[in-house]
Amino acid sequence: MTTLFNKTTKSATPYKSQDATTLLRADHKLVSGLFEDYEKASTKAMKKKLVRKICMELSVHAQVEEEIFYPAVKQALKDNELVPEATVEHATLKSLIAQVDGFEPDGEMLDAKIKVLQEYVKHHVKEEQDEMFPKAKATKLDMLELGDMMTARKLELIADRS
Ligand SMILES: [Fe+2]
Ligand SMILES: [Fe+2]
Repeated sequence: MTTLFNKTTKSATPYKSQDATTLLRADHKLVSGLFEDYEKASTKAMKKKLVRKICMELSVHAQVEEEIFYPAVKQALKDNELVPEATVEHATLKSLIAQVDGFEPDGEMLDAKIKVLQEYVKHHVKEEQDEMFPKAKATKLDMLELGDMMTARKLELIADRS
């Protein structure tokens, strides 16, 4: 996790620190675009590829939030509502992901599950972006440091999955 930030790696890989919520918003936007691509996809192969990508992106994103962002926000806000609720929503997301990840496209049922997942993600993202992120940004949390930690963890998780 720290190797990304030692001097040798840093000079070898151009890397710019990003604010934690900027990173998370970028993930949200990416996934929303993938859902739109799924709606337009016309072949089983295209759908299969998109489902795999959606599941990967959502799983990694949720894990990084749960391991790094949510605990930091919970502590900084002394929160006992937003983070627990978001964590419960992640559990529902994971169960929906488990119903589509790795399955062969099977027509209308897969389309229905992806649609439900899309709507659920939309609801969850809206709560994060409209409520949690503004409150988190108003605290003394170092958003750039959190962003660096999240980027490093995300790269690790993606490497583990490929
Ligand atoms: Fe989340
Ligand atoms: Fe999120």
